[in-house]
Amino acid sequence: MELSKAIKTRRSVRKFSHKTPNWRDILEAIDAARFAPMAGGIYTLKFIVVSDRNSIQKLASAAQQPFVGQAQYVVVVCSKAMRAIDTYGEQAEDWVKQQAGAGIQNFLLKLTEKGLSTTWVGYFVEKIVKVILNIPEDVNVEAMFPIGYEIEKPKTKKAKINLDGILYFEKYDHKRKMKDKYIDV
Ligand SMILES: Cc1cc2nc3c(=O)[nH]c(=O)nc-3n(C[C@H](O)[C@H](O)[C@H](O)COP(=O)(O)O)c2cc1C
Repeated sequence: MELSKAIKTRRSVRKFSHKTPNWRDILEAIDAARFAPMAGGIYTLKFIVVSDRNSIQKLASAAQQPFVGQAQYVVVVCSKAMRAIDTYGEQAEDWVKQQAGAGIQNFLLKLTEKGLSTTWVGYFVEKIVKVILNIPEDVNVEAMFPIGYEIEKPKTKKAKINLDGILYFEKYDHKRKMKDKYIDV
């Protein structure tokens, strides 16, 4: 699959078919996250692949989002920030979050390429997730990703913000009138 197709077709899916995802595809998606940029090359991300039904049900409760419990695999993404913060100080706290997003986007695009679907679940009680998965105190839970195959493609496309809505030139809030569409969106 071409990169632009993966970027444009990725979308959040909250209903999965009964087909079991190939866990090797999930591992390949996690592997893609290794190639994301990390400040000073200090890799802060950890991925936990959860397939135990009981744990998945508990994760769904911790997120108060029942659809999480319908997935056969849930990947929980964590950040171990200590070494980055020891090296770069407080500012690295922001960088650790930013690079989590970079790694996660690689992971999401690779899942899309593999025909797998997920939703980025950022709302959950972190303390409870940590207890369920034995996650140490100094590690933060960034997000969880219930993974499966989409039951059916939506008939309508969800609208995305226009390029115009995010683009300034030279200074913040400086827009430029454009006669022609200069990029295919
Ligand atoms: C940081 C973050 C947290 C999110 N948390 C949740 C969540 O807890 N539950 C959920 O159903 N979707 C969650 N989403 C998914 C967004 O709602 C979704 O990405 C957005 O509606 C855009 O749709 P799309 O992913 O299909 O483009 C989250 C997305 C992000 C980036």
